[in-house]
Amino acid sequence: MSRGVKKFGILTSGGDAPGLNSAIRAVCRTAMLQYGMQPIGIRNGYRGLAEGNFFELTESDVSGILTRGGTILGTSREKPFKNPEPDAETGLYPVDLIKQNYEKWELDALVCLGGNGTNTTASLLAKEGLNVVGLPKTIDNDIVKTDVTFGFHTALDVATEAVDRIHSTAHSHSRIMVIEVMGHKAGWLGLYSGVAGGADVILLPEIPYDIDSVAQCVMKRRDAGKEFSIVVVAEGALSKDEALLQKKELKRRRKLMPYSIAYRVAHELEEATGLVSRVTVLGYLQRGGTPSPYDRVLATQFGAAGAHFLAEEKFGNLVALQNNKIVPVPLEEIAGKVKNIPSDNPMITTGRCLGICFGD
Ligand code: F6P
Repeated sequence: MSRGVKKFGILTSGGDAPGLNSAIRAVCRTAMLQYGMQPIGIRNGYRGLAEGNFFELTESDVSGILTRGGTILGTSREKPFKNPEPDAETGLYPVDLIKQNYEKWELDALVCLGGNGTNTTASLLAKEGLNVVGLPKTIDNDIVKTDVTFGFHTALDVATEAVDRIHSTAHSHSRIMVIEVMGHKAGWLGLYSGVAGGADVILLPEIPYDIDSVAQCVMKRRDAGKEFSIVVVAEGALSKDEALLQKKELKRRRKLMPYSIAYRVAHELEEATGLVSRVTVLGYLQRGGTPSPYDRVLATQFGAAGAHFLAEEKFGNLVALQNNKIVPVPLEEIAGKVKNIPSDNPMITTGRCLGICFGD
């Protein structure tokens, strides 16, 4: 008969996102108030887990953080299973150090808040025998088997407000305004902020673009008397030529590009249309600041469910939202996968009906 979860570690890993502190607060408060568990904070993601950078979390540590951006635990992009190096002092590999710290601190479980990389590592740690529960965090919304991740809605609010603001200056100056949003592998943020902001062109990683098609769309608008165009570009968008390249060659070519994709699109559009273009890269604005009320509620729901999963010993699962219900999804079913936008996605179809150009 297992003794149940008395003490668990909690960590945040990967790119930060609004809602992380809301989720940390919900996991810890539910665990302490409902189940008398002791949360152990782990600093800086999986790096802190391997280093043993742990501390006891108290109720006051998680009080007043619901609305705070970022993560009180700190984060890193450490991947203990990827090209592991033995520790200089002990000669132990990260995974062995993690298991040693897990035992040393008498942890009964681990709660990992993160995106694809984090939950893939979590699934591997579960295979090593650790009791792990994952929560889906990322502004990219690219985790499979959950309808949405926390952080996405706040980033969408930020990106859409930016597109709205740029709309007015584009109109005043009759310019092509190219706005780059985050979304390296999947274009959800670009698609939704483009539709919400009334973009004329949306370029996504999932739909390789032909710059001539985009130029035609801009010129068609100009001929119809619309002297400006709004182009939303996901940072992972690819031209049709780039889409044919091997991953390694694409990476090499992108490294040679001293600027991000939006500058290239803007330059090529200027060349093709003779119209003036300007660029805005939203970057980390989409990751910062207080979470939206939607994300506060979503992260709180995910966090409380995470504590229940610990109490019910539903280990090896991601807390997911499916058809408005919180459900457990085995971590191995999401590990190594990315939720891309299907070509028949209703939002794409709707965008096309409204005349949005996707560059194809
Ligand atoms: O995964 C979220 C994300 O913001 C991506 O959209 C972006 O490409 C990446 O993180 C940036 O990574 P970093 O914070 O390490 O620069």
